[in-house]
Amino acid sequence: MFSKVPHKYDFLNRLLTLGMDQKWRKIATEICLSSKPKRVMDLCSGTGDLAIELAKRASEDTQLVSADFCEPMLELARRKADKTGLGNKIIFQVADAAELPFDDYYFDVIGIAFGFRNLTFKNPKTDLYLREIFRVIAPGGKLVIVETSQPRSYILKRLTHLYLSSFAAPVGNAISRQSGAYSYLAYSARNFYDPAQVCELLSKVGFDPIDFTLYWQGITAIHVAEVPS
Ligand SMILES: C[S@@+](CC[C@H](N)C(=O)[O-])C[C@H]1O[C@@H](n2cnc3c(N)ncnc32)[C@H](O)[C@@H]1O
Repeated sequence: MFSKVPHKYDFLNRLLTLGMDQKWRKIATEICLSSKPKRVMDLCSGTGDLAIELAKRASEDTQLVSADFCEPMLELARRKADKTGLGNKIIFQVADAAELPFDDYYFDVIGIAFGFRNLTFKNPKTDLYLREIFRVIAPGGKLVIVETSQPRSYILKRLTHLYLSSFAAPVGNAISRQSGAYSYLAYSARNFYDPAQVCELLSKVGFDPIDFTLYWQGITAIHVAEVPS
């Protein structure tokens, strides 16, 4: 599915979130870099927006990895990073979250922007993915997740769900010329877990403590899950 949308992916992200997606990635970047990590991975990196934000702000000696299992998305990420002169600060790695090609405890921080839903929503490999992510984060390190969430207010929730079905799905499908891709986005975002359920998933594999902040009344949430020292 992802290999068919890269050409319009960034444009649609900006359009469908009114440009807020980049703001949320910037907040996540600050959280990722706040502990001055030496090794950071943007997992499910897609077209690399989080990796590029990290590269803009990370210190010279921070190793940055942009990983995704979809080569066309990662290729676009590489081209974008090269264009902005940041290509040499990022290692691009084709990798499936189910089998990350890194040693135990390799990363201080892993960031995932809008990919956690793909890894966990009705996904039979959820547990495998989360255990693998946990495995490669060092004790005291953290996982930072930016993802769609469920607004707390009933009215805002209904409006968001209506927006997803009646605007985001048809417009996304039409612009990307992929009939299923944005219907899947709308369906999975409408039915995705609330923050408490995300915390439960993360807690089951050992993350502790887990904290979250809601943005736009819960349309998006950032979870920060730590690996105990
Ligand atoms: C919705 S996109 C998010 C891309 C990007 N992080 C962003 O902020 O826009 C989800 C990405 O997750 C990747 N992905 C999904 N499942 C994956 C897996 N098992 N391993 C690695 N990448 C995966 C897809 O290829 C896609 O690029």
